[in-house]
Amino acid sequence: MFLERYLSKYAGLSRKSILRLLHHGQIQVNEQTVHSRSFEVNAFSNISIEGKPLNIHKTAHYFMLNKPAGILSATKDPIHKTAIELIEGNESFDLHIAGRLDRATTGLLILTNDGKWSKKITEPVEKIPKTYFVETAQAISPQTAQVFEKGIYFKYEDITTRPANIEIMTTTTCKLTLYEGRYHQVKRMFSAVGNRVISLHRESMGDIVLDENLSPGEYRALNQTEIDSIKRKRE
Ligand code: URA
Repeated sequence: MFLERYLSKYAGLSRKSILRLLHHGQIQVNEQTVHSRSFEVNAFSNISIEGKPLNIHKTAHYFMLNKPAGILSATKDPIHKTAIELIEGNESFDLHIAGRLDRATTGLLILTNDGKWSKKITEPVEKIPKTYFVETAQAISPQTAQVFEKGIYFKYEDITTRPANIEIMTTTTCKLTLYEGRYHQVKRMFSAVGNRVISLHRESMGDIVLDENLSPGEYRALNQTEIDSIKRKRE
């Protein structure tokens, strides 16, 4: 949202006062003096007017969780424990999941309350690579790499999957990198080549790599470099 609209909406200032304050360098956004009324701000922007904080901004939260099997990628569920419930204090954070995992899938799950940021991870147009360690029931056929590279048609969504890269590790294990996150995508891709996924573990999303010090069920806040690595992709 433009700064002028934000200040009019949340600080009740008239257009004239906003322009005067901007002109005199009396508005700061994230500790930086701003003169433009069309400066972009959002719910996490820390705004001060004449040195006084507006105090209506939200604190942004970003976590990585090593998701254990059996935990649901959801906010609430009447039966299963959810990933968000594993984060202490989650009730006041208003978190959502940036790229869900199936209940049996393990590994990197990112939780945040910053919707603009999480969209950059999840929207296919952003092409953020997501890497999975996959174990299959049958041997991974030599054609798998070409089929995945070419893309697979998903009738339900009426889309063809983006080219995906596969690195064979053993006859029944590989690393698979996707640039989108369709429903049950990895399972459906292997099913399309006559194979079946028996275990799936997400290792990374963009430059954010699951911290090997985190045991299943443990989490930590993302550091600034990890947060910025996602912002940098498009800006
Ligand atoms: N693809 C799947 O099939 N399942 C997941 O949990 C993630 C990607």
